[in-house]
Amino acid sequence: MSPRPPAQRDEPAVKHPRRSSPAIDRLERRDLRELKPYEPIMLPGTLPQDAAIDGGAVVKLDGNENVYGCSPRVAAALRSYDQYHIYPDPEQRDLRQALADYANVDAASVLAGAGSDEVIDLLLRLVLEPGDSIITCVPTFGMYAFNTQVCGGRAIEVPRDERYQIDVRRVAEAIEPATKVIFVASPNNPTGTLTDRRAVEELLDTGRLVVVDEAYYEFSGLTVADLVSRFDNLVVLRTFSKWAGLAGLRIGYGIMPPAFRERLMVIKPPYNISAAAQVAALESLDDIEYLMSTVRALVTERDRLYHMLQQIGFLEPVPSQANFVLSHVSGREAVTLQRELRKRGIYIRHFDTPLLKNSIRISAGKPEHTDAVIDALKTWEG
Ligand SMILES: Cc1ncc(COP(=O)(O)O)c(C=O)c1O
Repeated sequence: MSPRPPAQRDEPAVKHPRRSSPAIDRLERRDLRELKPYEPIMLPGTLPQDAAIDGGAVVKLDGNENVYGCSPRVAAALRSYDQYHIYPDPEQRDLRQALADYANVDAASVLAGAGSDEVIDLLLRLVLEPGDSIITCVPTFGMYAFNTQVCGGRAIEVPRDERYQIDVRRVAEAIEPATKVIFVASPNNPTGTLTDRRAVEELLDTGRLVVVDEAYYEFSGLTVADLVSRFDNLVVLRTFSKWAGLAGLRIGYGIMPPAFRERLMVIKPPYNISAAAQVAALESLDDIEYLMSTVRALVTERDRLYHMLQQIGFLEPVPSQANFVLSHVSGREAVTLQRELRKRGIYIRHFDTPLLKNSIRISAGKPEHTDAVIDALKTWEG
């Protein structure tokens, strides 16, 4: 039986009424009072119907994690490490050097965070003043807008075009004097689409800080990290959560001009990367061949999943360069598909927003996971 998966953060959040108390009402920042939690609260395995899942086995294709797990060498390295009682290196020296070698950049340009989420948060804390804005090219990863709100800023949403490409002209038109940052996920979550480097260069010409989030880089093989040495307003984000199977250990990094890295070093919590995460990341970078073999398997499976989804009459999949496939659903409700699959122990993600209507996103898994999800979807055809 597969162990019950932990909380999935991009499940729809359970509605939280804000609890009042004299102290919280007196003390909490006014602009945060209406903020809804980003975090998911609907834990897999906790809905009443989850109990009926046959044998308790779960096919977890909702979080774009690596179903092959981390490198087996990571588990061994974590077991044999014997310095857990010592604070980790606040300067992240060994880790930054290893990341720099991997990304083919200078260590002075690299900063590690507790997931790329933390690097996003640190960047926004560094540059946003109350009332400042950021641009996010929607539909896209929600943390850019969420963290912006937490930092007292505003997110301006610029819709992508019908092929989910960034519309550089519309981005340029949306820029205000108070706009500090433009976020571009490439490949984008949840569409899987890439942004070409010409578009990135045009965005860089606006003078705003351009953050290219390459969380799924290893699945696409395309990067703009080499541009960081040429532009003083470019930051590239990466993570070990997707390709390296370390989502639970929280480790990501940013590649940026040294001037930015130095200021982020000043504001970051000193011990933001745990000793365990540093051990795991270093060991992963020593076992790239193995990890890339799982990436290749996932890319093969992503493409097979895409072709099989194409054959399902009520789905229209979107070509993807990441480790998941988005599909538009017609004639049925995406949320119902998600619920029905969940009853069978198959976890996927659904979307229904003005810009991403009635869609499902399925992560690439092992061949048997693709077969299970396709078999289930086929039962609702006809
Ligand atoms: C585009 C994008 N960026 C960043 C992240 C967060 O990654 P991490 O686990 O490193 O915080 C995700 C995770 O879903 C993502 O899809």
